Amino acid sequence: MIQQITVDNEKCTGCNLCSKVCKIVFKHTKGIPPVVEHPEICNRCGHCVAICPEGAIKTSWGEAGPFPPEPEDPAGALDFLIRTRRSVRQYKDEPVPREILKDLVETASLAPTGCNNRDVKFTVITDRQRLKEISALTRKTMHGLLEKLKSPLGRFFVGMAIGKERLESMREAAPFFTELIDNAPEEADPILYKAPAAVIIHHPSADFSAEANCWLAVTYLMLAAQARGLGTCLIGFVTGSARNPELKSKLGVPEGNGVYACVILGYPNIRYSRQVPYGKPDITWI
Ligand SMILES: Cc1cc2nc3c(=O)[nH]c(=O)nc-3n(C[C@H](O)[C@H](O)[C@H](O)COP(=O)(O)O)c2cc1C
Ligand code: SF4
Ligand code: SF4
Repeated sequence: MIQQITVDNEKCTGCNLCSKVCKIVFKHTKGIPPVVEHPEICNRCGHCVAICPEGAIKTSWGEAGPFPPEPEDPAGALDFLIRTRRSVRQYKDEPVPREILKDLVETASLAPTGCNNRDVKFTVITDRQRLKEISALTRKTMHGLLEKLKSPLGRFFVGMAIGKERLESMREAAPFFTELIDNAPEEADPILYKAPAAVIIHHPSADFSAEANCWLAVTYLMLAAQARGLGTCLIGFVTGSARNPELKSKLGVPEGNGVYACVILGYPNIRYSRQVPYGKPDITWI
């Protein structure tokens, strides 16, 4: 379904922040209101609404107000942290101190695990050259996958690997991925966004709770990072490409372990002014 995103030209100051957070949907010309050029690849993240200082952007799927005042009670503080977390894809060129990264991993390692197996592993990557190589290899692997999706034979093999239903959902997402990865300028880093650090979360893949253990750990890590003023973004492109043995080895993941999460982090180079438009949660009361 094509999303409706409208810009109120009366309120817009032409500041360019919306096209900074969303280069793929907005087309910006200096000093004038942006044009919503590709609404068909909008994923409803709401970042454009949240960043706009003038409240000039409206969406078809919900309204967004300003942030509520920061509460002092612990429950309210945690809710506030969760509600104000956003994926960050613009980072300052500033390293994250090793002590902080260590604290984050320690917090993440306290997340629950199936049968309390405590078998979640972390690789922390801060070496710029390695991060660059991981981006390039992931981009190449994703490009190969997108090419395969174009032919019936390629789709057959992808379907064998990931199952028919997931193949369909991947085909649906392909135009979005192509825009993000293949059409990004050479110098852009559409995979790790030039973040100063990445944490890879892996696990012996034979364990029945491997995925869940890693996803919970990464959630803890992201919230702990947010509480310390860091921005984060999950990078499924890396997780999805990690079957490539060359990439897996670059990620420092041993044979027998699966890569279940990759999160980048760093100090944000953007500041959101308001909440994102949320839809209502889908609840069945019985
Ligand atoms: C499983 C998963 C994989 C993701 N992979 C990527 C990715 O490869 N690149 C990216 O920029 N964002 C990625 N994201 C971030 C989502 O796009 C983002 O969470 C979503 O748009 C909602 O925005 P928010 O996190 O600010 O609420 C991923 C998120 C999840 C949960
Ligand atoms: S962020 Fe808001 S004010 Fe700035 S260009 Fe976009 S719509 Fe206009
Ligand atoms: S909701 Fe997200 S994807 Fe859609 S236009 Fe706004 S920033 Fe871009």
